[in-house]
Amino acid sequence: MDGQHDGPRREEIPAAISAQTEEFARRLATADPSRLAEAALATVGSLHALIAALRPTGEEFRIAIDFITEVGHYADSRRQEWVLLADVLGVSSLIEDQNSARPRGATPNTVAGPFYRADVPETALGASISRDGKGEPLAVTGRVAGLDGQPLAGAIVEVWQANAEGLYENQEPDLQPEFNLRGRFRTDPQGRFHFLSVKPKGYMLPADGPVGRLMAMLGISLERPAHIHFRITANGFETLTTHVFDRSDPAIGRDAIFGVKPELMAEFRALPLNGGRRRHALDLNLVLCPERQGESAHAGRK
Ligand code: BEZ
Ligand code: FE
Repeated sequence: MDGQHDGPRREEIPAAISAQTEEFARRLATADPSRLAEAALATVGSLHALIAALRPTGEEFRIAIDFITEVGHYADSRRQEWVLLADVLGVSSLIEDQNSARPRGATPNTVAGPFYRADVPETALGASISRDGKGEPLAVTGRVAGLDGQPLAGAIVEVWQANAEGLYENQEPDLQPEFNLRGRFRTDPQGRFHFLSVKPKGYMLPADGPVGRLMAMLGISLERPAHIHFRITANGFETLTTHVFDRSDPAIGRDAIFGVKPELMAEFRALPLNGGRRRHALDLNLVLCPERQGESAHAGRK
C-alpha cells in the first residue's frame, strides 16, 4: 500500500450514526491501516447512513437482496450485468472522470466499453472500415495534436463503431464480416488521418435483465446516442480513449452511461446527395496531453 492510502486514523473516523457503525469502526481500528480498511469504513458508514435515512422494511430489504442476487446470476463470461449496473448508475463514468481528468483544451477521456477489440490490423489512410458496404457513407477526417497545437505524426488511431442498425460486429459475428467498422490507422506527418465508414446508429443497452427492469421502473432511458469510438496512442502522450457523438441524435441529452460531454458532440454533416444516396462527413480535432511522469499511459477500464 502506498503512503497516500494508509487507511483511516482513529481521529478521522466520522461520528457514528448508529451503535453498529461505532462498533464496526472499533473493530476496524485494531486492523493494520490499509486502503481496504479505509474503503470498508467509508462504505459501511455510508450504508448505515442510507439505512438510517431510508428506514427500509424487512420486505424492502429482501427485495434489494433479490435484486443483487439476480444481477449476479446475469453476470458471466458473455454478459456483465454488474458492469452494466455501474454504467447506468454513472459509477463507471465518474471513476473514469476522476482517473483520467484532462487539462482544459485536451479531448476528454471516456470509458472504452465492452465492444473494443485490440487485434484489428492496421490499414492505409483513406481505406474504408465498412467491410460490408451497408449504410449511408460517412467520410471521416481528423487531426491529432498535443496541447500546444503541435501535430502528432505517427500516432495510432483506433476506431470502432456500431453499424447503421446500432450493432457492433462482435455482437453479430455470423452476420457482419470480421472487423467490420473497426480500423487502425497511423497519422501522417501533419498529424492527419482520414478514412471512410458508414453513419452509425444509436442503440439501447440490454433491457432484458434486472438492470433493464430497474431502469424501466425508474423511467430511465437505456439509449446511447449514435457515436464513434476512438483510441489514440502516441509516444510521450497519455492514451486517449473517447467517443465522438452525433449532436443531432435525439438521445444526445440522455446517454445511458453519462458519456456525452460538450467537447465530444460533433456534426455529422449531410453532403449533397450522390446518385440519390445520402452521404455524410465528420471532421475532428483530437488533442492529447503529455504523459505525466510516473503515471501509467493507460488509465481506465478497457
Ligand atoms: C459502448 O459505447 O460501446 C458502451 C460503453 C459502455 C457501456 C455499454 C456500451
Ligand atoms: Fe459504443
